[in-house]
Amino acid sequence: MEFRHLGRSGLMVSEISYGNWITHGSQVEEDAAKQCVQAALDEGITTFDTADVYAGTKAEEVLGRALKGVRRESLEIFTKVYWPTGPGKNDRGLSRKHIFESIHGSLRRLQTDYVDLYQAHRFDYETPLEETLKTFDDLVRQGKVLYIGVSEWTAEQIGRALKIADEMGFDRLVSNQPQYSMLWRVIESEVVPLSEKEGVGQIVWSPITQGVLTGKYLPGQQAPEGSRATDKTGGAMIARFMRDDVLTRVQELKPIAADLGLSMAQLAVAWVLQNPNVSSAIVGATRPEQVRDNVKAAGVKLDADVLKKIDDVLGDVVERDASKTASPSSRP
Ligand SMILES: NC(=O)c1ccc[n+]([C@@H]2O[C@H](COP(=O)([O-])OP(=O)(O)OC[C@H]3O[C@@H](n4cnc5c(N)ncnc54)[C@H](OP(=O)(O)O)[C@@H]3O)[C@@H](O)[C@H]2O)c1
Repeated sequence: MEFRHLGRSGLMVSEISYGNWITHGSQVEEDAAKQCVQAALDEGITTFDTADVYAGTKAEEVLGRALKGVRRESLEIFTKVYWPTGPGKNDRGLSRKHIFESIHGSLRRLQTDYVDLYQAHRFDYETPLEETLKTFDDLVRQGKVLYIGVSEWTAEQIGRALKIADEMGFDRLVSNQPQYSMLWRVIESEVVPLSEKEGVGQIVWSPITQGVLTGKYLPGQQAPEGSRATDKTGGAMIARFMRDDVLTRVQELKPIAADLGLSMAQLAVAWVLQNPNVSSAIVGATRPEQVRDNVKAAGVKLDADVLKKIDDVLGDVVERDASKTASPSSRP
């Protein structure tokens, strides 16, 4: 495994991290979840990402049990707050009340005294940014949270938060967690340039586009049994990419991966890691073999001619529109 700094902070993270959205507490049974976490640890992954909302809070519980007994100092545990975790008006968003209640729930479920990174899972238009940042700063001072970050915030929102933090003396954001893959490059034009200037690192999600970039989904054919596209929750999330034009282009990446001696998943993960603003690529997995396959992307260098070939193959199915980085206009 290779390691990178989380943004400009002193924290080191494994450049491939393991996340449990859709899978733990939902698509896969606890045994498979534990095997995936064990495979991640065996392969040198030290960074684990979850969220209070995943599987209605069950994902954090599963991760807490799977990591039980592992030396805490050898792990970086990331979680998030924003999406609803209960029926009440205050069970969501980035108010002081919800953030405090959510972190306490997360620490209990994860069976830990602190999380290494606490992330605002989206921007909350219904809470003053100062309230959220002050609350995060309080959590840092209390030692419940070591670093703070955001997820899917626009460049303007990240920039505004950094300005407030500097003016008020609050802890600064060190990271953003956006979707990023060969097929989804919406952060490249605005979020990445601002982040590079400000020392904010990207922890990117769905680097394999939820499995699409493995090439296992064939155009015009049924999805393989047990894959995310056949899962009730996962199927809805991956649907945007399950189009014949996308799947056809992805098949054309196979010779490029083969020439490099890489699996398709490894090519996809290696591709996001070529961006120096990326601190870590969070991979998901339903089986330990997938983790073992994906981690081999660590340290892989892709030459400029390979990157060009990938761009030529994918052509106009790549999404680059910066306005696709968005948060709900009101709380969900
Ligand atoms: N901040 C956010 O808003 C946000 C949103 C989404 C995700 N995330 C984070 O990012 C993490 C990763 O997201 P993701 O799960 O979508 O990432 P991904 O790595 O792009 O996709 C993972 C899925 O692809 C399939 N797969 C992975 N490796 C494979 C391989 N080698 N061969 C064949 N199939 C393979 C598996 O699904 P099947 O076996 O079921 O096909 C696996 O669950 C999440 O767990 C979460 O921590 C964050």
